[in-house]
Amino acid sequence: MSVFQTVATLDEIPDGGMKQVVVAGSLVGLYRTGHDVYAIGDVCTHEEAYLTEGDFDPEDLEVECPLHGSRFNVESGAVRILPATKPVPSYEVKIEGDLVSVGPQRNASEE
Ligand code: FES
Repeated sequence: MSVFQTVATLDEIPDGGMKQVVVAGSLVGLYRTGHDVYAIGDVCTHEEAYLTEGDFDPEDLEVECPLHGSRFNVESGAVRILPATKPVPSYEVKIEGDLVSVGPQRNASEE
């Protein structure tokens, strides 16, 4: 069963930019490159920091945590650079027209 929740319109997320939203009570960061949008958990797994307050690199599809510089793949949530060692959850994203919807977690089993 997959439940998608509409959380934003495409033009609310700058191309090459990001936006924090709440999905089913969890903070999620949306990352946009052109017509693609990726969604990962917005709280760093190292300490308490919001990844959407860091730097997004649309070419490498990664975001750098503002606090200690860990980097996460925005597609999978995987850690690319320490000090974080645990991935953040990633979510399915559906775009219909201008509406961006976020679905179930992809890597919940790793949490
Ligand atoms: S809080 Fe994100 S790297 Fe430390």
